Amino acid sequence: MSQHNKVVVLAGATGGLGSVIAHALLSKPGVRLRALVRPGSADKVTPLREQGAEIVEVDPNDAGQREKLVEAMDGAFAVVSALNGGPDVIVGTQTRLLEAARKAKVRRFIPSTFSYNIFGLADGDNINTDDRREFARVAAAAQGEVEVVHLLIGAFLDRRTLFGFLGAFDLETGQAFVWGDGQTPMDFTTYEDTARFTAEVATDEDPLPGVFEVAGDTLTFYELVKAYEEASGKAIEVVVKGSLSDLDREIEQRRQAEPENRYAWLPLMYWRGMLSGKGKLNAIANSRYPHISPQTVHDYVRSEGL
Ligand SMILES: NC(=O)c1ccc[n+]([C@@H]2O[C@H](COP(=O)([O-])OP(=O)(O)OC[C@H]3O[C@@H](n4cnc5c(N)ncnc54)[C@H](OP(=O)(O)O)[C@@H]3O)[C@@H](O)[C@H]2O)c1
Repeated sequence: MSQHNKVVVLAGATGGLGSVIAHALLSKPGVRLRALVRPGSADKVTPLREQGAEIVEVDPNDAGQREKLVEAMDGAFAVVSALNGGPDVIVGTQTRLLEAARKAKVRRFIPSTFSYNIFGLADGDNINTDDRREFARVAAAAQGEVEVVHLLIGAFLDRRTLFGFLGAFDLETGQAFVWGDGQTPMDFTTYEDTARFTAEVATDEDPLPGVFEVAGDTLTFYELVKAYEEASGKAIEVVVKGSLSDLDREIEQRRQAEPENRYAWLPLMYWRGMLSGKGKLNAIANSRYPHISPQTVHDYVRSEGL
């Protein structure tokens, strides 16, 4: 297949990350984007259709549409999943997508991993990470000739994740929160850079490893605070919350108090994976795509005026 007619199928183009990946694919010369959307969500991709994406309405969860799903992948070089959800989606729906990709003889499948090193964590450390590792196990047994490539990027370097969801910073009060010694390196990549690397991985002619790591920046907690302070010109008060064992206890207490309210404890599960070093990437390979110069924390904070 030549570089000039590569079809990349994207599931999840209506989502936060998926929409950015869609744009990265559309702006890559010689790539044709085919977005799979659930029938009820087709309105959300009108702008993508106008920009030249082919839109296929198909529900991967509908057993009656299995053939349609395989046809939707016909002739594709790669399938990218940017789905999000619980185990029904991450394990269930993605397994159906992978099965269809195998039947359609797609070369590569990029699951919706886009995380820190999920393989460094143990079961129970983070419920979302457990689902992604479970999919990796299922995929290893089911992939056949399809190359499954988990793209690991650390934490999203953006206002919603690193400076939001994680609870690492409170920019309103000018505080940052740490458990443990804060000396463990952690990895960060913006949505845009994640999408650019995804578009490269989705179209790369050469074989790739099953786990491919990239990062825009790698900093310890204290380096992260310093990068923020230097780029923003604002001072941050560091609040030392205790040891990593204290963090384990805090997560357990919050979970027991509000088991159904994931937002009370799930962000801390991610922050623990990073502060503990368990989620550290260990073979960052940005240099495979040297034309991408990913943003650092300093670049991002300055460009966003955070
Ligand atoms: N590393 C990090 O810091 C970080 C942070 C945030 C997210 N992520 C990861 O990035 C990935 C994408 O997350 P996101 O925040 O972009 O997700 P999102 O905005 O919630 O989008 C979810 C997508 O999944 C689709 N979807 C949901 N349930 C589905 C189902 N049952 N069947 C088919 N499609 C379904 C949605 O389609 P509809 O429009 O049809 O509902 C939508 O396109 C996830 O793997 C997430 O864990 C990583």
